Amino acid sequence: MNLREIFEKRKSIRKFTGEPIKEDQIKLIMEAAQIAPSASNKQPYKFIVIKNDEFKKVLRKKAVPQRFIEKAAVIFVALGNKKEADYFYKVDIGIVVQHMALQAAELGLGSCWMGAIKRDELRELLKVPKDWEVVAILPVGVPGQDPPARARKSLDELFVNDSFQ
Ligand SMILES: Cc1cc2nc3c(=O)[nH]c(=O)nc-3n(C[C@H](O)[C@H](O)[C@H](O)COP(=O)(O)O)c2cc1C
Repeated sequence: MNLREIFEKRKSIRKFTGEPIKEDQIKLIMEAAQIAPSASNKQPYKFIVIKNDEFKKVLRKKAVPQRFIEKAAVIFVALGNKKEADYFYKVDIGIVVQHMALQAAELGLGSCWMGAIKRDELRELLKVPKDWEVVAILPVGVPGQDPPARARKSLDELFVNDSFQ
């Protein structure tokens, strides 16, 4: 697959089969995160990796409103460090998590960015220290659906020449 094909292959997958994925695949996803760029190369993020099925159920019940995460093979919880990069940590998280989602797509795996999460509950369950913020989670697994691509704004809506108006 070339890059364009990977971009198109990545879609939010909200149904997983529940099958396991290989450790090698998880490692490739982690390495894709490792090579992501970040402002001043600060890499102000850390990931909690959840593979335990019982713990996934606890997370779902207490902190994530969407049931499909229980069938993810692995859930990455992306934490950003405000102290290390006050302005850019969320930008950097955006880049690094998207690297992971694209790597998952290249491997034929599904993933879904998730920001609608109960951050305080996750902080407590995962013992996250105060300088770190739970920004998003990325469940990854064997896809159990192939949804149609969602519509996007037109290029004219997204790009303007020379100045805003
Ligand atoms: C930062 C961010 C947060 C998101 N949070 C959620 C979420 O909590 N639950 C969910 O089902 N999808 C979530 N999504 C997925 C978006 O709904 C999805 O990316 C968008 O509708 C475009 O669809 P596509 O990913 O299939 O291209 C999130 C996406 C991003 C980038």
